[in-house]
Amino acid sequence: ESTLGAAAAQSGRYFGVAIAAGKLGDSTYTTIANREFNSVTAENEMKIDATEPQRGRFDFTAADRIYNWAVQNGKQVRGHTLAWHSQQPSWMQNLSGSALRQAMIDHINGVMAHYKGKIAQWDVVNEAFADGNSGARRDSNLQRTGNDWIEVAFRTARAADPSAKLCYNDYNVENWNAAKTQAMYAMVRDFKQRGVPIDCVGFQSHFNSGNPYNSNFRTTLQNFAALGVDVAVTELDIQGAPASTYASVVNDCLAVSRCLGITVWGVRDSDSWRSEQTPLLFNNDGSKKAAYTAVLNALNGG
Ligand code: G3I
Repeated sequence: ESTLGAAAAQSGRYFGVAIAAGKLGDSTYTTIANREFNSVTAENEMKIDATEPQRGRFDFTAADRIYNWAVQNGKQVRGHTLAWHSQQPSWMQNLSGSALRQAMIDHINGVMAHYKGKIAQWDVVNEAFADGNSGARRDSNLQRTGNDWIEVAFRTARAADPSAKLCYNDYNVENWNAAKTQAMYAMVRDFKQRGVPIDCVGFQSHFNSGNPYNSNFRTTLQNFAALGVDVAVTELDIQGAPASTYASVVNDCLAVSRCLGITVWGVRDSDSWRSEQTPLLFNNDGSKKAAYTAVLNALNGG
């Protein structure tokens, strides 16, 4: 196959991209995005501040621009993200305790109702574990509502849209030996044992000198899949975009039957949240980088 999406589809997987609504008028951008990818994640437009700017007043203008573009072009959509310490609107930042807990529940219900039956995977909870070696939860206003906030979010999400796969998503959890990875693993194991509804784990996979790719990523994916959840690479970018590392990540996903697919976090280097690291598959002029060819070859079986 000659595109990333078609090549991934040969094994029943998708190859996706993060899209920014403000770039849908850029024809170089949309031409690549439409040609190469068969799954879409909104880079910012489905986040809490975008979708509920005032309490109880939902605004899906930008989110629907991306959703509609995706569906009109035959792509599936990953929802990102419902409960997160970051990108909260100011009204939510100012809440705590039971009021915040209720606001989280209402937010999940409001967004998931709008997209009921339309989203392949939702990142229900994003980035709830601390960096470093503690293996602890990240301190946040949501965490301070009680340690059960994550499972409440998942139970709320399941009831709101039973057709969506419900994911937990985090970064720097690709290396099997990291404390953060082990903490996330213990949580997922506990959720599966107690029947908390979780279907998938998203590994953001922002690889750079601070979080280098390690070949034990495949072990991580396999170990999580063995708990009975699907896994996905959800926000892939790699500092300098070395072709061999990109190929390794693809081969790690292909080696794990429960790996649903891969999403890269932007189209061209100039679209990246860390563009100075030139971490993506396309140059600023839209031409394909060596990493692109490596990914395509890996998806095509070597
Ligand atoms: O849209 C406003 C614009 O109106 C304003 O003038 C400008 C001034 O700063 O800000 C613009 O918003 C920015 C937004 O991106 C859109 O460009 C925000 O400041 C900026 O913070 C925001 O950054 C996003 C970041 O999440 C915020 O946490 C990045 O685009 C986005 O790529 C990044 O994505 C996250 C994932 O959601 C979760 N995992 C990590 C990943 C990378 O940080």
